[in-house]
Amino acid sequence: MIQDKLKLEIRDIVDFPKPGIVFKDITPLLKDAALCSEMVDAIIDQLQGIEIDAIAGIESRGFLFGFLLANRLGLPFIPIRKQGKLPFKTVSESYALEYGQATIEIHEDAFEKGSRILVHDDLLATGGTVVAASKLIERLGGEIVAYSFIISLDFLKAKGRLSRFSDNIFSLVSY
Ligand code: PRP
Ligand code: ADE
Repeated sequence: MIQDKLKLEIRDIVDFPKPGIVFKDITPLLKDAALCSEMVDAIIDQLQGIEIDAIAGIESRGFLFGFLLANRLGLPFIPIRKQGKLPFKTVSESYALEYGQATIEIHEDAFEKGSRILVHDDLLATGGTVVAASKLIERLGGEIVAYSFIISLDFLKAKGRLSRFSDNIFSLVSY
C-alpha cells in the first residue's frame, strides 16, 4: 500500500521550525523516483470523475507534485506564490498557518473565469494556507472542484474549513 510506503519515508522533525511543532519532512521520499511516480498515479486515481481545467499549486512544496500532476494530466499549472515573487499583476491574501503568518499571491490572468480548479499542496495542517489560496481563486471567478494533499494532519481538523469551497478533499496519508 502506498500509505505504508509513504509513512516509512516521511520523517518527523520535532520542534521545527518552532518548539511544539512536529514537522513532517517529505524530502526523503523525493529521492525515490519510482515512489514519486506511484504517488502521482494514486492522486490521479482519487480524482476519477472530477472535471478539472487547471491545477493550482502553492509555493514551495505544493509545486513539487502539483506540477508533476498537471503535466501528467495535460493540464495548465497555476503557481500561487509567496508575496513579491510573481512578476505580473497579482491579487493577494494574508493568513495564519500552523507556525506563522504569510501572504500569498496569484496572477490576475492565471485562468479564465469559470475554470474548474484543483488546489494541490503537500500538507494540510490548520488549513490557513489553502483557505487563502481558495479565496484568491474565487476572487478571480474560479470554481474549486477538489483539494489534493500528500499529507493531512487530521488532528488539526482543517477539513471543515475547506468544505465551504469543495467537499472533495483527498490526501495520500493522514495522521
Ligand atoms: C507549509 C505547507 C503548507 C502549509 C500548511 O508551507 O507546505 O503550504 O505549510 O499549513 P497550514 O495548513 O497550517 O496553512 P510553508 O508556508 O511552510 O512553506 P513551504 O512550502 O515553502 O515550505
Ligand atoms: N506545514 C504546516 N505544518 C506542518 C508540519 N507539521 N509539517 C510540515 N509542514 C507543515
